[in-house]
Amino acid sequence: MEPVLRMQGISKSFPGVRALQNVDFELLPGEVHALVGENGAGKSTLMKILSGVYTPDEGDIQLKGTSVVNAGPKAMLDAGVSVIYQELNLVPHLSVAENVMLGREPRRAGGLIDWKAMRAEVKKLIAQFNLKLDPRTPVYRISPAYQQVVEIIKAISLRSDILVMDEPTASLTGNEVERLFEIIRQLRSQGVSIIYISHRLEELWEVADRVTVLRDGERITTKPLAELTVPDIVRNMVGRELTEQYPVTEIETRDEVLRVEGLTKAGVCSDVSFAVRGGEIVGFSGLVGAGRTEIMQIIFGYLKRDSGKIFIHGKEVDIRSTRDAVRNGIALIPEERKRQGLILGLSVFDNAALAVLDRNSTFGVINFKKLSDLIHRIVETIGVKTPSPRQLVKFLSGGNQQKVVLSKWFVRDCDIYIFDEPTRGIDVGAKVEIYRLMQSLAQRGAAVIMVSSELLEVLNMSDRIQVVYDGRIVKEFRRDEATEEGVMKYALGVAGSVA
Ligand SMILES: Nc1ncnc2c1ncn2[C@@H]1O[C@H](COP(=O)(O)OP(=O)(O)OP(=O)(O)O)[C@@H](O)[C@H]1O
Ligand SMILES: [Mg+2]
Repeated sequence: MEPVLRMQGISKSFPGVRALQNVDFELLPGEVHALVGENGAGKSTLMKILSGVYTPDEGDIQLKGTSVVNAGPKAMLDAGVSVIYQELNLVPHLSVAENVMLGREPRRAGGLIDWKAMRAEVKKLIAQFNLKLDPRTPVYRISPAYQQVVEIIKAISLRSDILVMDEPTASLTGNEVERLFEIIRQLRSQGVSIIYISHRLEELWEVADRVTVLRDGERITTKPLAELTVPDIVRNMVGRELTEQYPVTEIETRDEVLRVEGLTKAGVCSDVSFAVRGGEIVGFSGLVGAGRTEIMQIIFGYLKRDSGKIFIHGKEVDIRSTRDAVRNGIALIPEERKRQGLILGLSVFDNAALAVLDRNSTFGVINFKKLSDLIHRIVETIGVKTPSPRQLVKFLSGGNQQKVVLSKWFVRDCDIYIFDEPTRGIDVGAKVEIYRLMQSLAQRGAAVIMVSSELLEVLNMSDRIQVVYDGRIVKEFRRDEATEEGVMKYALGVAGSVA
């Protein structure tokens, strides 16, 4: 079969970084081709070259046999290539419908935008995902996971021949992922070719036909998935055997550190109660929109609550702002790194430094040596791939930006750590390091909360699991009684006392 896309000998360098080196990549008609590799391996760069955002230093790109290298983004879109980028590209103040139809709004005779037709069209697309989402909602008001779905809907509605998905499932759970897979299979049967990037390796077998592995900017292999296993892919990605995916330790649980009673906020959550002891890791599972993030934001003083009490070390505390929360020893590591966790225009070092400055200065004088050692150690432990700590964060790959967000908080000494999607976009090897860091926080007596869409991670890393459905905790599992099916049943609201 003649490939629809052929990329040959692609090389690309940035100052201090060789992002791609002589990479070949082919895509067949109606093929789902997975692209994997560690953080910084060059996946997004290769796709930005395909979409015309970057020009390669060397190499050729052919669409159905015609060379299109250096054609630019507009020409590539017109040629039928559309990309769902890892970093979301929506216009925050426009509605969901406007974002999806941007630049090609349906018009009535006379040229006015036909809002009704536009909303109806987008509503139909949303219905495919079975989501509670009003097309009129401005995008800045919806969660990152919903924003991701909007990006997907937008790309699908362009009806391209080649569709690139750069980590589309990073913030989706169970049945949303299933739905996306159904849509991918449907597109494939219509002859659309899809390039699928993901760090959730297990899911590749459900959708992809072949896989290409990149390591340090080079193509290591391209093979049918049927001939490979997860350990095979991991070995190709990291260049060595990775022994454990979920590290196991025995951590002694101590006294209760955090207790939440009857937390309620209209339209967000109701009557949420739970406790976390020192040394414990408690996982929160649930679907997009279940309210997990919002519950954590209330505890962190970022959202106001209508009622409910928070106790720390058995004493009620009055948290009305994030400052109050920080003063009470709470750290929240947010899911939305671009808006809440990072200053993209500052360096890796400065971002980490911001989180620790007040702890490492005496009378306003910064102990620079101490701070510098600390940050270097953390950056090294998590393995942030950067030419130097002085590199601006905006030039790092998606997963490496996430690592910087995390490193910021590991350097602080807190009693309660709330991680919202800590390993989103992080490669397999680095995930293990992050789990180890979480365990080391628990080991030193902290209470750790992990909100995660990745069920396997919640099941393997939590001592207890709270399942949230429609703003309520509907079930608590102990680690030894939790199964994938069990947790999903409650997350979907089909089990227990849920009305
Ligand atoms: N505009 C840029 N300026 C400088 N360096 C860049 C730029 N874009 C990418 N890089 C570097 O190129 C390398 C490849 O990055 P890329 O974003 O392609 O990785 P990736 O495989 O998509 O990783 P991830 O899984 O973390 O998303 C990284 O070292 C990154 O820091
Ligand atoms: Mg990327």
